[in-house]
Amino acid sequence: MIGGMRAAPPSTEVTAVEAVDPQLREELLACWTDVSNAGGAVGFVPPVTRDDVAPVLDALVARAATGRERVVVLRADGELAGWAVLSLSVSPLRRHWATVLRVQVHPSRQGQGLGRALMTGVHAAARDCGLEMLHLTVRGGYGLEAFYAGLGYQEFGRMPGAIRLAPGDDREEVHLFVRL
Ligand SMILES: CC(C)(COP(=O)(O)OP(=O)(O)OC[C@H]1O[C@@H](n2cnc3c(N)ncnc32)[C@H](O)[C@@H]1OP(=O)(O)O)[C@@H](O)C(=O)NCCC(=O)NCCS
Repeated sequence: MIGGMRAAPPSTEVTAVEAVDPQLREELLACWTDVSNAGGAVGFVPPVTRDDVAPVLDALVARAATGRERVVVLRADGELAGWAVLSLSVSPLRRHWATVLRVQVHPSRQGQGLGRALMTGVHAAARDCGLEMLHLTVRGGYGLEAFYAGLGYQEFGRMPGAIRLAPGDDREEVHLFVRL
C-alpha cells in the first residue's frame, strides 16, 4: 500500500498455448524452479537449480509439441504468474477426460486468488478441447485438497506411501476429480 491506497488487483489472462517458444520456456523454467524452492508440490524436492528442472521441462515441451499435453499459462499484468498442464490420454476409451499436472502460481503472487483464476482458465481450456472431466493428484499433508474442493473437485481415493520425498519420508497421494 502506498499513501493509504490499495494496489489495484492484477489484470489476469489465461491462455492455452499451442507451442512453447524459447521465451516462454525461460519463463516456465524460472517459475517452476522458484515454486519448487519455495516448497511447492510440483514434482521436485528443494533445493533445485534451473539445470535440474530444465530436462523435465524440455520433455514436457516435446509432449506439448505433439499435442499430447497442453500448457495453460496465467499472466498477471502481462507477466507469467502461473501455469498448469492438461495431459491427454492416448487411450481411445479415455478421450473424454484429462489429468491436470504441475499446477503452480509464482510464490510472489500466491494467496491473491490467482490459483483460482488459473484453474478456472484450465477448466475453460479443457471444455474447449471437448473434455468432460478432469483428474489430478495432490500430495497428502499440504492442505491442497481444500484449494481444489473450492473449485468443485471431489476426492475418490488415497494411495498410501505413493510419493517418496526422501528415504523414510513417504507421503500419500490423494486422487481428485471434477466434472466440467
Ligand atoms: C496451490 C496454489 C496453486 C494455489 O494458488 P493461490 O494463488 O495461492 O490460491 P488462491 O489465492 O487462488 O486461493 C484460492 C482458495 O484456495 C485456498 N488455498 C490456496 N492454497 C491453499 C492451500 N495450500 N491449502 C489450503 N487452502 C488453500 C485459499 O485460501 C482460497 O480460499 P478462499 O477462496 O476460501 O479464500 C499455489 O499456492 C501454489 O502454486 N503452490 C505451490 C505449488 C503446489 O503445491 N501446487 C499444487 C500441485 S497439486
